Amino acid sequence: MDTNSCAARPVSYFPVSPVMLFPEVLGDFSVYLWQGGDFVLYTKSGQKFTIKHRRILHTNGVKEVYIQGSERQQYEKYIEQNLGTILLDQELAIDVRSKVFYEATTVVMQDVFDRKLPSSLRARHFDRITEIVKSSIKFLAEDHSLSAIASFISHDYKTYTHCMQVFIYSVAVFQNCDMSDGEIFECGLGAMLHDVGKAKIPRRILNKRGSLTQSEREIIKEHPVHGVSMCAHLPMTQNTINCILFHHEKLDGTGYPAGLKGDSIPMPVRIISMADIYDALTTARPYAEAMPPYEALTLIRHDMRDGVDMDVFKRFVSVLSGADML
Ligand SMILES: [Fe+2]
Repeated sequence: MDTNSCAARPVSYFPVSPVMLFPEVLGDFSVYLWQGGDFVLYTKSGQKFTIKHRRILHTNGVKEVYIQGSERQQYEKYIEQNLGTILLDQELAIDVRSKVFYEATTVVMQDVFDRKLPSSLRARHFDRITEIVKSSIKFLAEDHSLSAIASFISHDYKTYTHCMQVFIYSVAVFQNCDMSDGEIFECGLGAMLHDVGKAKIPRRILNKRGSLTQSEREIIKEHPVHGVSMCAHLPMTQNTINCILFHHEKLDGTGYPAGLKGDSIPMPVRIISMADIYDALTTARPYAEAMPPYEALTLIRHDMRDGVDMDVFKRFVSVLSGADML
């Protein structure tokens, strides 16, 4: 183990879980430990992080290592380039891969959503999200992946965690439907980006405690159209666009923005709507506490049955229950 103390303290460090450092993969960044009140070099840039390195951290109960802020881009590139391989590595336990999946997705989505998004989604960010979606779909098809991910599901609302969770639930249901790999990818991408248009809604409205005024509700209802316009310059298929544009449509025609009815709402979009409603109800918001799963499903079944597809509801319940999430 390298334990050379840093002579000069660099500007900043950010924490990373050791599980996000992949054995035998070359990283273009240095890794530090926090020891005795200082950052201490553990592995150098260009040095392989080995199984032995990981074992030492595990044995010593190290939960976080650190990377210099100036090497953040190299780290992110490393994660995104290796994610597909890592997620399908059967040598790694499913709960380890689930943690890798959730943390890697968080890094990308937080980076894209948590900053003030420009008027359009940048092609670079779109490519990163596309890669995450591609890398994770096969992993989500594995037995027990959903139940392993369940422990990471966040019940505190943030737009990016909500988008990730809607993606996870939706893809799990897509895989139980008659959908091609291409459709699952395109609609999975739509699920991941379904609320991107919220970046254009003032935060004072999105985070308002208490009930919204009529005009505030109308402003929020613009987010699906904003989402599509933010992505207009990107190479997106109609399937992906439909998911962003129509995820608030309801079977009885009372949804928005188009007031579509029944079969005119594509099946994958109905699945995303179900996942969206369920995640919203089971997550704490500024105006409501998180509901337990059974209560949320009961509310959907009793109070929302005219607007949602009850066949999709049954599939959704079956997927959650198969993953021990109820
Ligand atoms: Fe939405």
